[in-house]
Amino acid sequence: MTDENIPELLLETENLSDKKTTKMIKKKEALEELKMEKLTIQDLPGVGAATAEKLESAGYRDLMSIAVATLGELAESAGVSEAVGRKMINAARDSMKMGFVTGAEVLKKRALVQKISTGSENFDTLMDGGFETNAITECFGEFGSGKTQVGHILAVNTIKEDPEAYVVYLDTENTFRPERIIQLANGAGVDPDDALNRIMVARAYNSDHQMLLTEQVDGLVTEQGKKVKLVVVDSLTAHFRAEFVGRGTLADRQQKLNRHMHSLAKLTSSHNLCVYVTNQVMAKPDQFFGDPTQSIGGHIVAHASTFRIYLRKGRKGSRVAKLIDAPNLPDGEACFMVEEGGLKDFS
Ligand code: GTP
Ligand code: MG
Repeated sequence: MTDENIPELLLETENLSDKKTTKMIKKKEALEELKMEKLTIQDLPGVGAATAEKLESAGYRDLMSIAVATLGELAESAGVSEAVGRKMINAARDSMKMGFVTGAEVLKKRALVQKISTGSENFDTLMDGGFETNAITECFGEFGSGKTQVGHILAVNTIKEDPEAYVVYLDTENTFRPERIIQLANGAGVDPDDALNRIMVARAYNSDHQMLLTEQVDGLVTEQGKKVKLVVVDSLTAHFRAEFVGRGTLADRQQKLNRHMHSLAKLTSSHNLCVYVTNQVMAKPDQFFGDPTQSIGGHIVAHASTFRIYLRKGRKGSRVAKLIDAPNLPDGEACFMVEEGGLKDFS
């Protein structure tokens, strides 16, 4: 999202119908509001270049980190006096509008939400147009159910739909395949080189590394000016599951996973991007009724995800996506096939 978009949007309104004009104006207002929210630490009262540098090296990189800091923490990390610290925290909180907002304001922010198509009409209809930005969507399912394929397809479609967009792919299981991107790009009518150049892949070697890489996505947007529109984390839980073995470690794992989900959620709302995470299921042999599988990460992952989809194998090699949890959509199912060039409807 760049400031230059604003005049362009205004120009476009001249020849459009009233309904479209209203939509454009709403979008422009929402963009301007977002610009207001883009203040940096240096814009806070009492923060000069030296203090900003100290704060940054202590890990305070945005207004949110100041808004939720304590006076003691600011004093310790940047030698800020109590009075200045209080002013900084208050100004950060004011600018972030951390209190209540009206429903109308929420609606205004919703006008910025974009959808990334899956290429399957059935699947897109289930998701009311595609995978949403400003949200985390979790796909869980057994091995081979198509979670990684969906990640690759979303990446290519993001590139196809937005000529400026970048995709970040956090690969924890070494399953990202550039060859597959080339096939899918050809299937979607996208230049494969363009697709590969705008997908930034990082292999995460353990859960700490995965969390560090997630934090670095912010810098890609704010420092390098890349318009990251999709972040894929495939798989979200594999490292956590492997590193925390045994019942005694469950609380630690959940706490760490919770932090990870928070930093992903923060990315979605600060940069209006879509986060797609994959999750395995584990067998629950003691369950005799219903589906004898359960996703990893339990309620922590479930609650932090805005949309949850259960993927399973269907008839004749098809795949079935079942929408389990969505804030504004009815539950339902979509059937499709994974083909060389992308997803195809199946009925
Ligand atoms: P795990 O990561 O092991 O849990 O599985 P997953 O859910 O990520 O499965 P994945 O997305 O890797 O799905 C693999 C399946 O996708 C394969 O078994 C194939 O059925 C299908 N698939 C992958 N590539 C192609 C392709 O090029 N053509 C076709 N027709 N199917 C493909
Ligand atoms: Mg996979």
